[in-house]
Amino acid sequence: MQILDGKLVSQATKDLLAKKVTELKALGKKTPHLAAILVGNDGASETYVASKVKSCAEIGYNSTLLRFDAQISEKHLLDNIQMLNENADIDGILVQLPLPKHINEELVINTIDPSKDVDGFHPMNVGKMVSGLPTFIPATPYGIMLMLEHYNIDTKGKHAVVIGRSHIVGTPMSILLSRNAQPGNCTVTLCHSQTKNLKELCLQADIVVAAIGRPNYVTADMVKDGAIVIDVGINRIEDSSKKSGFRLVGDVKFDEVAPKCSYITPVPGGVGLMTIAALLKNTYNAAIGEKEHLN
Ligand SMILES: NC(=O)c1ccc[n+]([C@@H]2O[C@H](COP(=O)([O-])OP(=O)(O)OC[C@H]3O[C@@H](n4cnc5c(N)ncnc54)[C@H](OP(=O)(O)O)[C@@H]3O)[C@@H](O)[C@H]2O)c1
Repeated sequence: MQILDGKLVSQATKDLLAKKVTELKALGKKTPHLAAILVGNDGASETYVASKVKSCAEIGYNSTLLRFDAQISEKHLLDNIQMLNENADIDGILVQLPLPKHINEELVINTIDPSKDVDGFHPMNVGKMVSGLPTFIPATPYGIMLMLEHYNIDTKGKHAVVIGRSHIVGTPMSILLSRNAQPGNCTVTLCHSQTKNLKELCLQADIVVAAIGRPNYVTADMVKDGAIVIDVGINRIEDSSKKSGFRLVGDVKFDEVAPKCSYITPVPGGVGLMTIAALLKNTYNAAIGEKEHLN
């Protein structure tokens, strides 16, 4: 069993981007600039945004963080996004989700200029991804593809079972894995809460991608020997031994599943770090006016 090490791969990606930024600066070109919007005080969202901003600084990007309290009106938020759209110095805009219930997330995403939509959630970018055109690939599935690529994992002809069909993880993951590309060329089964025979399907899978949001949901009896397991889940569970009072676990019961796998991602230290690396890649591409093209 080999661990797919998000720390190692994300660092390699960041090192390469840092080098490219130094080159851009030496040529007198623009420094990539990411703007992040954080609404409210959700602990997990605060942590995610803080790591994104910190990673920007590490590799020489500029970043701007706009913070609003949870009561912000939808209009005020949309006006601020419009302002960032019109600011030529900003290359990428991300709005940390979820947003408070009174704000229409779809409207917010649709307001971001598609050429600055480094999260890849705008319908125009989603449409391009589905059509196999160059675009911003949503950061989490993109990060997973970068990880598979880094470890040179041959996915061709493999049966991938993706559990979870969200717009940000499961659905784009199923599209990317089924593309005529490497990584890709999988036969994909997309599962969700209404799937009847999840265990049976998982047992047929050469690759399992778990993006469910339920701690330790995928157990050893659901995974066949030699499978590749990608754990996207980030779940906080109570742990009084920790100063924070919680610890992070994935959607996969790591201790019992890992020994059966050929490769597995840990939580933390796996997909989460790759998500940030992929976001930084998208931001670089936005700054130089290019889009990633995976096939
Ligand atoms: N590592 C990262 O960077 C990263 C990034 C994003 C998300 N995440 C984590 O990944 C997890 C999933 O996130 P998300 O945003 O995709 O979540 P989400 O929007 O809540 O979607 C969860 C998906 O799982 C499905 N599901 C729920 N219970 C199920 C069950 N018992 N059997 C089969 N499918 C089930 C749901 O089915 P229905 O559609 O039928 O409801 C839904 O499609 C969360 O833990 C989240 O924190 C991590």
